[in-house]
Amino acid sequence: MENTSPTTGAGAQRYRVLAVEPDERMRTRMTLELAGIVPVPTSSYDEVAREIVPGEPVVVVFGPSLAGQNGFDAVQRLGRTFPEAGVVLLAEELTLPLLQEALRSGVRDAVTIDAGERQIRMAVERVGDTMAGVAHRTAAGLEPQRLGRVFVVFATKGGVGKSVVATNMSVLLASRFPNRVALIDADLQFGDDAVLLSVPPDHTSAEAAAAVDTMDTGLMESFLMTHEASSLRVLCAPVEPAAGERITAEEMIGMVRMLRTMFDYVVVDMPPHFDDVVLALLEEADEVLLIASLDIPSIKNLKVGIQTLDLLSVAGSKLHLVMNRANARVHLDISDVERALGVSAEFRIPSDIAIPQAVNRGVPVVLDKPRAPAALALRALADRYGSSDPGQAVAEPDVPPEPRKRGWRR
Ligand SMILES: Nc1ncnc2c1ncn2[C@@H]1O[C@H](COP(=O)(O)OP(=O)(O)OP(=O)(O)O)[C@@H](O)[C@H]1O
Ligand SMILES: [Mg+2]
Repeated sequence: MENTSPTTGAGAQRYRVLAVEPDERMRTRMTLELAGIVPVPTSSYDEVAREIVPGEPVVVVFGPSLAGQNGFDAVQRLGRTFPEAGVVLLAEELTLPLLQEALRSGVRDAVTIDAGERQIRMAVERVGDTMAGVAHRTAAGLEPQRLGRVFVVFATKGGVGKSVVATNMSVLLASRFPNRVALIDADLQFGDDAVLLSVPPDHTSAEAAAAVDTMDTGLMESFLMTHEASSLRVLCAPVEPAAGERITAEEMIGMVRMLRTMFDYVVVDMPPHFDDVVLALLEEADEVLLIASLDIPSIKNLKVGIQTLDLLSVAGSKLHLVMNRANARVHLDISDVERALGVSAEFRIPSDIAIPQAVNRGVPVVLDKPRAPAALALRALADRYGSSDPGQAVAEPDVPPEPRKRGWRR
């Protein structure tokens, strides 16, 4: 267990772990399973509360003797008084009614004590990460009404690098602003952000969409996976394409709106086709990064796409053209493309073997080969949107508009 003591850890260990168990025999077992964390010998709420430092994220592991009404009452009171405290319940046996009761009282995760050290550690870490995020946002004074910026990464053709841009940009932002960046894989049928980031899609937007009517931030947190190296939170695409097909535009927008109350940046990786989900997301976006590559079909598609989608009226001033593989030897000059489209490329990412290599390793190139030319270009893109504290940018409604490029001309 990484958090081996109830003291604040450094770096990624941004929360304390505290264990509670009145029964001596159980305490010994818990000490073994929790890699040396000795439970506080009490069942009294007041004694537990005394161990908690207000404002400091903490995971409180309740032992098996607390898996009953008294324990659940304590969990409920803890949740009301200390929003940064998250409870993990270790039960001797986890029946469905017990689990339901536990979750209703505010327990964030429950595991049987026989599940083994690894399972228990994963539950503690999951809850710890969540609590660290809650504490951070509380400390930063981010009120729920304050909305994060939504970046939609879009293209009028498949395979031009949307997912590469979306994953690398969000990883860079998350490394800079821990726990404040979320990525949604909106390629609901064939999304591969989980693969690009090596994040197991244990939960996906299929579950989040089903719960959208009763959604709150705590529930949404439980659907988000974590990219450990950057702290990026990821809402993965459904594993089954059929499940993705059932997600409606309203559900998608509901998820994005919930995420923007929780994070300063929400990056959306779009699918390669057009439908009402895509249109709704384009409308919801604050910024649309339009990815194109330097080949004739891509440029033709872009031109046709702009017209048929009437992108100008949908996305207008929020469109930013990103040329991917900008140095490809295809006898096509960027200035020709800019002239044909009537828009200037704000960002250029070179064609770089480091990208497919990183893709195959399941590590974003900005972490895999940070000095590779493409990684540097992606960093420049993230710098543009993440050079100042997003909390500030979000807080001020009158952020001066970015200098307009030539803009879109019909
Ligand atoms: N700048 C680049 N240099 C070299 N290869 C690249 C570059 N950008 C993307 N690629 C490669 O192109 C492939 C497609 O990229 P990516 O998956 O990001 O595209 P996409 O637009 O998301 O595709 P889809 O429409 O299928 O979702 C990837 O395998 C990646 O390795
Ligand atoms: Mg993709």
